[in-house]
Amino acid sequence: MVSMMTDIDLNKLPRHIAIIMDGNGRWAQNHTLGRIMGHQKGVEAVQRTVRLCREIGIKYLTLYAFSVENWSRPDQEIKALMKILREYLRSELDEMLRNGIRLATIGDIDSLQEPVRNLLQETMERTAENKEMVLNLALSYGGQNEILQAVRRILKDAKEGRFDADALSKASFASYLYTAGMPDPDLLIRTSGEYRISNFLLWQSAYTEFYFTDVLWPDFGKEDLFAAIADYQQRERRYGFTSDQLRRQKVD
Ligand code: IPE
Ligand code: IPE
Ligand code: MG
Repeated sequence: MVSMMTDIDLNKLPRHIAIIMDGNGRWAQNHTLGRIMGHQKGVEAVQRTVRLCREIGIKYLTLYAFSVENWSRPDQEIKALMKILREYLRSELDEMLRNGIRLATIGDIDSLQEPVRNLLQETMERTAENKEMVLNLALSYGGQNEILQAVRRILKDAKEGRFDADALSKASFASYLYTAGMPDPDLLIRTSGEYRISNFLLWQSAYTEFYFTDVLWPDFGKEDLFAAIADYQQRERRYGFTSDQLRRQKVD
C-alpha cells in the first residue's frame, strides 16, 4: 500500500503549536455513547499528539483542555473531566520524565479543586528540570480573564511602586499573562469544524497561523497533525510586510 503520510519539513517546524481540542461530545454521539466516553477517547488523542510532537521536535504544545466557560457544563460532566485529568496526569508522569517533557499550566488554576491542583503542582515540580518540550495545559482558561488579571496586577504593582506605568509595553504586558516566558503560538489548530477562537490565547494569537479541520478530536491522528504542519509550512508569514519586502530580506 502506498503511504499517504504527508511530508513535513523538520527544519521548518512551528516552535509552538496550540490546539483547541473540540468535538469529543459529537464523537460520542456518533458512536451512540455518552459524552464522557468521548472525553475518555479524547485522552488517547492527547497521548498520541504529545508523543508525536515530542518525537518531531516541537518545543511548546499548548492544549485547551477546559475553558472558563466550560464551568457552565453539567456538574456530572465537569466531575468526569476532572477525574480524567487526574488519571491522565498520574499515567503520564513516567513518560514525561523519560522524554524530557515539562508540564506547565495556564488559566485560573486556583479555581480547580484541591486534588487536581495538588496533582498539577506535584507534576510541575517533578518535571520542572525537563528541557525537551513544554506541555502546557490550558485549564479553567479564558483569554479575556487572562488579560483582565494582568491589568489588575499591573495597576496594583504600579500603585505599590513595583511597576513604572511609563514602561508599559507589549513585552512588559505579556510578562503578566499566564504565558509569561513562552513564545506565542505559531500554529493554532481547531478540530471539529468550528471556526471560532472560543476565548483562547486572544493576546498571544495576534500573528498565529490558524488551521481548521472537520476531524473530531478523538479521531485526530498523525496524518491530521502532519497535514496541519504541512499546511503551516506553505504559508508566508508576512507580519504586515509585502511579499516583495520579505523576499528581499531573505536575499540580503
Ligand atoms: C471538547 O469537546 C472538550 C472540552 C470542551 C472539554 P466537547 O465536549 O466540546 O465536544 P462537542 O463540541 O460537544 O462535540
Ligand atoms: C473550547 O471548546 C474549549 C475547549 C476545547 C476546552 P468548547 O466546545 O467549549 O467551545 P464552544 O463553547 O463551543 O465555542
Ligand atoms: Mg465543543
